Amino acid sequence: MASLVFLVTTLVFAGTCRAYYTSIFSFGDSLTDTGNLNFISPPLSPDCMLPPFGQTHFHHPNGRCSDGRLIIDFIAESLGLSYVKPYLGFKNGEVTGNIENGVNFAIAGATALDLSFFEEKGFVVDATTNYSLRFQIDWFKELLPSICNSSSTEGCKDVLHSSLFIVGEIGGNDYSFPLFETNAFEDLITYVPQVISVITSAIKDLIDLGAVTILVPGSLPLGCNPALLTKFATINEEEYDQAGCLKLLNMFFEYHNELLQFELNRLRVLYPFTNIIYADYFNAALQFYKSPEQFGFERNALQVCCGGGGPYNFNDTALCGNLEVIACDDTSKYVSWDGYHLTEAAYRWMAMSLLDGQYTIPKFSLSCLTSNTSAYFINYTMK
Ligand SMILES: *[C@@H]1O[C@H](CO)[C@@H](O)[C@H](O)[C@H]1NC(C)=O
Ligand SMILES: *[C@@H]1O[C@H](CO)[C@@H](O)[C@H](O)[C@H]1NC(C)=O
Ligand SMILES: *[C@@H]1O[C@H](CO)[C@@H](O)[C@H](O)[C@H]1NC(C)=O
Ligand SMILES: *[C@@H]1O[C@H](CO)[C@@H](O)[C@H](O)[C@H]1NC(C)=O
Ligand SMILES: *[C@@H]1O[C@H](CO)[C@@H](O)[C@H](O)[C@H]1NC(C)=O
Repeated sequence: MASLVFLVTTLVFAGTCRAYYTSIFSFGDSLTDTGNLNFISPPLSPDCMLPPFGQTHFHHPNGRCSDGRLIIDFIAESLGLSYVKPYLGFKNGEVTGNIENGVNFAIAGATALDLSFFEEKGFVVDATTNYSLRFQIDWFKELLPSICNSSSTEGCKDVLHSSLFIVGEIGGNDYSFPLFETNAFEDLITYVPQVISVITSAIKDLIDLGAVTILVPGSLPLGCNPALLTKFATINEEEYDQAGCLKLLNMFFEYHNELLQFELNRLRVLYPFTNIIYADYFNAALQFYKSPEQFGFERNALQVCCGGGGPYNFNDTALCGNLEVIACDDTSKYVSWDGYHLTEAAYRWMAMSLLDGQYTIPKFSLSCLTSNTSAYFINYTMK
């Protein structure tokens, strides 16, 4: 009954709104990590933990791999929720707050596939990649009784029904780690279905637990990524598009995204009462490289803000975070922060174009649960 009163009250205040998101639970890699990196044990000290990371908005390094806020921070702000706090911080007792308002399981360096997959292929991968998507889902399951303050699955459903789940971006590292070690594209193509399959089974797990609204970002156009552009630099101009991005790499990441969307369509048929929303990170970011000036970026959008020289101002022996590497004066004029990750300015534009529905399929509804979700939510609450 109490929850019914709550719903009626929201109706009055919100006009057309039937119900709001009450929390965000997220999974992914450094594009989404809001601080798990801080709490890895044994501790790591990757570049993202050093100044000038975090200089914008937070004014100190905080485990986010950018100068400031990430897409997930802008989504949280738009939904009127607090920033989604890192799971490992809660676990250590170093972060406090209401876990029922959301938890972030995303961690820098994470891959979709388990570490053993890469070890079998003979790749040496970053230590943080031990936390694959499967690990993150297991963390969520472990935490679930505390999130719901209940050990029963039923008791969890209303919490999860009104939550926004963000699964991704994940998979970028599965390809980029091997790409930094090898040129064998042919091998990478064969990983794609396996990467997608891990993502879809994670989504299924979440739906089985009660998730209804799930935002699934695809891959960025990593053919425009300064680190990869530096690694694969070629004098053959035909390999670049008009924006200066590597065509083959972008085609590869588009293939990943197409396969992901194909599988999301199958999930929508399997689970008609869910809202599975594809977030088109690829095209939302591609517009920066095509028409940088429209967003206030420098004409050469492939230049890194915080880097150590070279054609893209990216130098893998002088990375952002090293003392001698100085950040650009105005980060809002740059798309790329450190050669791997984007600036707060780029993330802000991306978040805006996702939230206004331009780059989400189907359109993401900003502050209200979308009709299917709220129908489910209201039915459940009235029981
Ligand atoms: C990855 O995690 C597993 C399970 O916790 C552990 O046994 C293994 O040693 C870890 N591997 C690395 C490289 O950290
Ligand atoms: C959790 O549930 C117990 C009893 O079931 C209650 O005493 C306690 O206040 C609840 N905690 C929160 C944070 O809601
Ligand atoms: C909502 O549910 C209906 C009925 O199952 C389904 O046909 C429709 O595609 C769903 N809409 C969205 C946006 O998921
Ligand atoms: C990259 O950094 C190293 C180490 O600081 C430096 O010696 C080298 O000249 C730099 N390369 C470029 C292209 O600036
Ligand atoms: C909600 O309940 C009504 C009436 O029982 C039913 O017709 C409808 O299909 C239910 N919707 C969902 C999403 O379960």
